[in-house]
Amino acid sequence: MITRMKLLFALLIVSLTLSSSLRPTFARGGQHAPLPSGFEYSSYVGSARHLFEENRSYISDEVAQGYMTNSDLEKAVKAFGQRCSNISRIYSIGKSVNGVPLWVIEISDKPGEEEAEPAFKYIGNVHGDEPVGRELLLFLANWICDNYLEDPLARTIVENVHLHILPSMNPDGFSLRRRGNANNVDLNRDFPDQFFLINEDADARQPETTAIMSWLREIHFTASASLHGGALVANYPWDGTLDKRRTYFRCPDDETFRFMASTYSRSHYNMSLSKEFKGGITNGAYWYPIYGGMQDWNYIHGGCFELTLEISDNKWPSANELPTLWEYNKMSMLNLVASLVKTGVHGRIFSSEGGRPLRGSITIKGINHTVKAGRTFADYHRLLAPGGRYEVMANVAGYKSRNTCIWLEEAAMTLDFVLDPEVTLNKGGSLPRSDCECDCGNTSKLEFVDFIWGSHLGVFVILIAVVGFLYLLLLRRRNINLSKHRHP
Ligand SMILES: *[C@@H]1O[C@H](CO)[C@@H](O)[C@H](O)[C@H]1NC(C)=O
Ligand SMILES: *[C@@H]1O[C@H](CO)[C@@H](O)[C@H](O)[C@H]1NC(C)=O
Ligand SMILES: [Zn+2]
Repeated sequence: MITRMKLLFALLIVSLTLSSSLRPTFARGGQHAPLPSGFEYSSYVGSARHLFEENRSYISDEVAQGYMTNSDLEKAVKAFGQRCSNISRIYSIGKSVNGVPLWVIEISDKPGEEEAEPAFKYIGNVHGDEPVGRELLLFLANWICDNYLEDPLARTIVENVHLHILPSMNPDGFSLRRRGNANNVDLNRDFPDQFFLINEDADARQPETTAIMSWLREIHFTASASLHGGALVANYPWDGTLDKRRTYFRCPDDETFRFMASTYSRSHYNMSLSKEFKGGITNGAYWYPIYGGMQDWNYIHGGCFELTLEISDNKWPSANELPTLWEYNKMSMLNLVASLVKTGVHGRIFSSEGGRPLRGSITIKGINHTVKAGRTFADYHRLLAPGGRYEVMANVAGYKSRNTCIWLEEAAMTLDFVLDPEVTLNKGGSLPRSDCECDCGNTSKLEFVDFIWGSHLGVFVILIAVVGFLYLLLLRRRNINLSKHRHP
């Protein structure tokens, strides 16, 4: 028995060393080192790739062949759920037009449980003819499952993030090998728009779009990314402009989004080396404006910082290129998720009375965007570009707001808030809302003077008299004590 255990243990060690030495290092941590000589994934998969390379514009049966069909994908998702049941949960957020379930894998050490942790979502295959993402997301899930015990990055994700993976948002489009869904609607144009009144009619919306929208109401995502093909770039909001012109159109969190997009492009094998896009990132509207996109809707209505990632020039490469594409994107996909806990400002909001969590919101001075705290734990996760001074304010209805100035470095910062309830002396009068700790504005002082000279003057005079009387009383006592001390 013992020798058999020893043998098993030795085998385990050998396989661990093998797997770690096989792990290529070229794409790690934002390094742009070229492929080491001799490292060629195509040698793993034989010479078949050359047969398919001619037929790129037309998706032939042969090209489609190496990809998982919708039922293969369902099997793969369920197999994953069984194999990695201790760190995952499988659920569906709805069905496509043709009734295919939209399966999601949630990865976390406590899947399905609410925790004071940020949630991230990856969505693949928004466009039916861009299937690389749906394959890479299965690679990602499996890689995390296989490595979270020894790899620090995978472990960070499992322990500190709830990662939700929807490999295919458009399974019908995939089986039809075309962009739109079964009704031939482009799902990335089907969301309500901030500039133009389109897609307002909820009944006319595609079921895939509706599923995503209700998903965001259910789960409070901090950030997300959808995976596309046809280019190599990390795209960030806004996607549209007011006047439909192609121009750089900044959203309030432009700096944070540039940081996020760069996290992806710099960790990628060669995205940041792009000649077309500086640093491998682009503002959506600057590239080409679109309306009704998922990305802007996420940021505005879901409070979720979403990127649109174009991960391969070829929309539908032959399947034997998938392992290479996975290696090119692996560190990016992991680093983007981990950046949710490795950067930014995080904390919880409590009441000063009894320490109850308060479901409020966080704003940053000068950035017109509100981040809500979580329902149960009142935890907030505010992504911000590092290397800046920020004034962070916590707001809860019925409580005095508080703000604090911070200098944010590369590393994440923890900042809890304890708020005092607003004291209402009588109806119509309340203490000033603003309770500055850093840049004390004059407004709050003025408000306070206003308050004193307002309807509460009478109460205030009585208070002063009482305090004065107590003070005199205290002075007398102290004098008696002092004299006692001098003359024992
Ligand atoms: C990245 O590498 C791939 C594969 O070698 C190549 O086809 C592509 O042109 C490269 N892109 C950039 C921007 O360097
Ligand atoms: C902040 O954004 C909202 C829309 O989200 C807009 O209505 C409002 O005018 C903006 N405020 C400022 C000060 O820009
Ligand atoms: Zn696309």
